[in-house]
This record gives sequence, C-alpha cells and structure tokens, in this order.
Amino acid sequence: MSFHRLGSVAAAEAWCAARRDEGKSVGFVPTMGALHDGHLTLVERSVRECDVTVVSVFVNPLQFDDPADLERYPRDEDADARALEEAGCDLMFTGTLPEFFPGSLDEQGSIEPGALISPGPAAEGLEGASRSGHFTGVATIVHRLFEVVNPSRAYFGRKDYQQSLIVREVAASRGGPQITVCPTVRTEAGLARSSRNERLSEAEREDALVLSSALASVDALWRAGERDAEVLARALASALESAPGVRLDYAAVRDAERWTGADPSGPMESCVALVAAQVGPVRLIDNLVLGEGDVCEIATRAGSRT
Ligand code: PAF
Repeated sequence: MSFHRLGSVAAAEAWCAARRDEGKSVGFVPTMGALHDGHLTLVERSVRECDVTVVSVFVNPLQFDDPADLERYPRDEDADARALEEAGCDLMFTGTLPEFFPGSLDEQGSIEPGALISPGPAAEGLEGASRSGHFTGVATIVHRLFEVVNPSRAYFGRKDYQQSLIVREVAASRGGPQITVCPTVRTEAGLARSSRNERLSEAEREDALVLSSALASVDALWRAGERDAEVLARALASALESAPGVRLDYAAVRDAERWTGADPSGPMESCVALVAAQVGPVRLIDNLVLGEGDVCEIATRAGSRT
C-alpha cells in the first residue's frame, strides 16, 4: 500500500474504517511528531506485525502544564512524513483540538471537564506529581485516538514508563487495542532518544548521559544482589545529585509489577528505577527495569566512557 498523508481527523477515521472493512489489521503509533529512531522502531514493529500501520502526529495541548513548553515543542511535519514513508507507514494523519473534540470545547477553546478521561491510579506520584494534569491530557487524547483509529494493536516506548501503564488502563477500559511497549532506543553513548533532545547543546547532551549511567550503576547493584528499595533509590539519587549541569527532579524506584504513588520500602522482587531531571532547557526522563535486557547495553556504554 502506498503512503497517505491526511490533515483531517474525520478523513483519517474514514480511511482506518475502510481498512478494517477490508479485513486488514491496523497497527497504530501515536506520536507528537519530531520523529526519531525511537518512534521509527515502533513503526517498524507495527509494519512487521500488522497489515497497515497508522501514525498520528499531534502535539496535544491537553498534556502540557506549561504553555511555553508547548510553544517550544519541536515540529517538522514534512520531515516526519518522509521518515514515515521510508519506514513503511501507510497513513500519517494530523488534526486540531476542535477536530478531535467537536462539541467538547468551550468558547476559549478549553476542553469541557466532562470530556476528560481519568488516567487512573498509575498517574499517582513521580511524573503525575511533577506535571499537574499531564496524564489526564495523555489519557484523554489516547482514548480519543483509539476511537478514531480503532486499531488492533498500538505501540508505545518504554521511555515513558508511567505513561505506558496509563495507556494500558485506557485500552483495558474500552476493550482494546492490544498494547505493545517497546524497549527504549538510545544514542551510541546511552542517552534515551527523545524529541526534546533536539534542544540540547553538545555540552548538555554530555551532561545528560549521567541519567543513563546512574540507572546502569543501580542496575549493577541489583545484579550484585541488592534488593532494598531505599538503598537502591538512594544510590540512584546520589549518582545524580551532584552531577554537573543536571537539576534532579526525582530519582525513585517502583515495583515493576505494581505501581504505587508512594516510594516502596524493604526488599523488592522486581524493580524499575526512574529518573527525571532538568538539563539545560529540557526536562528529561529515563528509566530501567533492573536486571533486564537493554540495561546491559547502557552499562557497557557507561563503563566504556570512564
Ligand atoms: O508519548 C507521546 O508522544 C504522547 O504522550 C502521546 C502518547 C502521543 C499522546 O499525545
């Protein structure tokens, strides 16, 4: 199938319905554009697993608590379209808030509270505590995107760990799609790919590497047998607190099987380590499920830099 680009939500909805009517499985990758290798990995996975692959490009105002951050979010739809066509995507579509939520915006263009979707308990703590209303905005647009595309599968990156839990809840609440969460894609040096990285200088990119190396050092502790939640969280924080150019927001651990808003204590059976920090003009997040696959790679890279 050839590549299509649509600038209307209604047209995208009709296109997706027609593919489903043809009996095709629809894979979906929701994005805010400024696409990088992390997004393209999700697209490629969908292309392998589904008959058609749909990508939305929409910088969702509902999930930004800071208007300046929304304003500065990188945008390049033509470059996105070229990358998606090359990756084998079948449909890229864009839209506006009024198109996504007809009849649900007030005169100022703000969404009516009744149209918001609750993100559920996984929104408690960490990103949910640092970014007021962020996950309600994510849950609301993801729910709406699922209605528009009605995919059989949807693909998300693990870099947004807490978001992936919320998206699973949204999908479960409406009986689909099946959610696949793919490993974080990193630069050679270990920095987690993010559209926001575009705004980092070379020096800030170097400073930002401490996020992944701190995660790798806690992973090494885990592999050596450390299981105490407080010891792991403290080790993560201390690797970041005095790092040059980095202002730590949080360094925390959570049970990888069961989200809690509050910090866990005592011995852990499974563990994800999560960090958020301001580096130069950008707030970065990263995480690692301790003792798992892509960790070794970071550890090797972090080790090879010292
Ligand atoms: O992860 C993102 O890029 C966004 O939060 C998403 C899922 C596309 C919703 O706007």
